[in-house]
Amino acid sequence: MKPSEPSPELQDFFYENKEELLTHIIQFNELMNRYESAIKEVYTKLEILKSDLKIHNRRDCITSIQSRLKSPVSILKKLSRKGLELSLDSIRNNLNDVAGIRVICSYIDDIYMLAGKLGSQDDIEVITIKDYIKNPKPNGYRSYHMIVEVPVFFSDAKEKVRVEIQIRTVAMDFWASLEHDIKYKKDDVSCEELVEQLKHCADTIDETDRRMMELRDKICSSN
Ligand code: GTP
Ligand code: MG
Repeated sequence: MKPSEPSPELQDFFYENKEELLTHIIQFNELMNRYESAIKEVYTKLEILKSDLKIHNRRDCITSIQSRLKSPVSILKKLSRKGLELSLDSIRNNLNDVAGIRVICSYIDDIYMLAGKLGSQDDIEVITIKDYIKNPKPNGYRSYHMIVEVPVFFSDAKEKVRVEIQIRTVAMDFWASLEHDIKYKKDDVSCEELVEQLKHCADTIDETDRRMMELRDKICSSN
């Protein structure tokens, strides 16, 4: 579909307020750059831990690291869904997931080891932890979530910026990706049977994750 031209009224509004709008856009870009920089800081920390852990454990504890900056549309949607003010301060004060990093680990115990090592770095402040592995969501979702604050040095200031870190196993990630996909395709996943089957898959995956850990320990102790 071809995007429609802005109405003459909207064009007039932009023209009359262009200075103010430009200032808002610059300030928004500046804020986004702060989140993007915080992602780089935490990403680098995780990459360093990934290679160091590989040398020490002679295997990959972290299999992959992904990052994403929340889009302006998603930010607006989330603020309005929660009935929050649409302002830069409101983004800063209310949204913890503008900067997001997902870390995929091999085994469940790698997740706790990694969270401990990252959380104990002295420039990282752990704000909240949600352990959906010990306490899975009713739908079966499992993952370890951390909100951290990291200091970032800019040209004019040092600022603490929040980053959401989700840590999960390859198996948990497989389930979460497909469940997200199913939810996205079908807005109302209220069909009881479907919900029950998804939960069953999540529980089976958890059992397999734990068996793989036991197998790893058996194989390692016999070597
Ligand atoms: P938002 O969902 O971002 O508003 O955050 P929240 O405050 O409810 O935090 P929570 O830690 O529960 O969830 C944060 C993120 O974890 C979500 O944005 C998803 O990326 C992921 N997540 C949480 N629950 C589920 C789930 O049931 N399925 C999937 N696939 N992902 C989930
Ligand atoms: Mg989120």
